[in-house]
Amino acid sequence: MLADFTVRFASTTHASQIATMSRDHIESGLGWRWTEERVRAAMSDDDTNVVVVLDRATGKIVQGFGIMSYAERHAHLLLLAVRPQQRRKGVASAIVSWLDLTARVAGVERILVECRRSNDAARNFYLDHGFHERNIRAGMYRQLEDGIQFAKWLRAPTA
Ligand SMILES: CC(C)(COP(=O)(O)OP(=O)(O)OC[C@H]1O[C@@H](n2cnc3c(N)ncnc32)[C@H](O)[C@@H]1OP(=O)(O)O)[C@@H](O)C(=O)NCCC(=O)NCCS
Repeated sequence: MLADFTVRFASTTHASQIATMSRDHIESGLGWRWTEERVRAAMSDDDTNVVVVLDRATGKIVQGFGIMSYAERHAHLLLLAVRPQQRRKGVASAIVSWLDLTARVAGVERILVECRRSNDAARNFYLDHGFHERNIRAGMYRQLEDGIQFAKWLRAPTA
């Protein structure tokens, strides 16, 4: 059985860990765009949520995080990562469920997210969580790698 994880808003003290995790686990080989400064900017943006799951022992180590921005009709899951030693325990599922709920409360039609075409773990993860693959974009990541765009409908689109 998967453990329960508490998802909470990140604070600025987590920004450095989040940025480092993005560099190492999401952006590797592509250049580092989600620096600590950018993560902090996302935290202070009214239309963006930055959430974390922290370790139980100290409550200081970010085990996983998610960043989602909200527009009028869609929410965009910008980043999602879990520390390698904590994977396959339900951490990302807890984060995405939390963000899914906020998107529903916000009233958006769908959630969008992308990942590298070669990222089997993420592709499985998103398909497992109700997303469908809507597009393959050649060279989406700096012309180095193809990307897959996913969407998850939360309600019928407004005419
Ligand atoms: C993708 C990622 C966020 C999943 O995090 P996680 O906490 O391990 O995911 P969960 O435990 O909540 O969910 C696991 C489910 O996701 C899928 N999944 C996760 N890792 C997988 C893998 N290595 N191979 C196949 N399926 C995988 C499976 O459906 C799995 O369910 P199962 O364990 O019952 O088979 C994590 O692997 C990660 O941080 N990867 C690096 C960063 C990244 O790729 N982010 C997403 C693109 S931005």
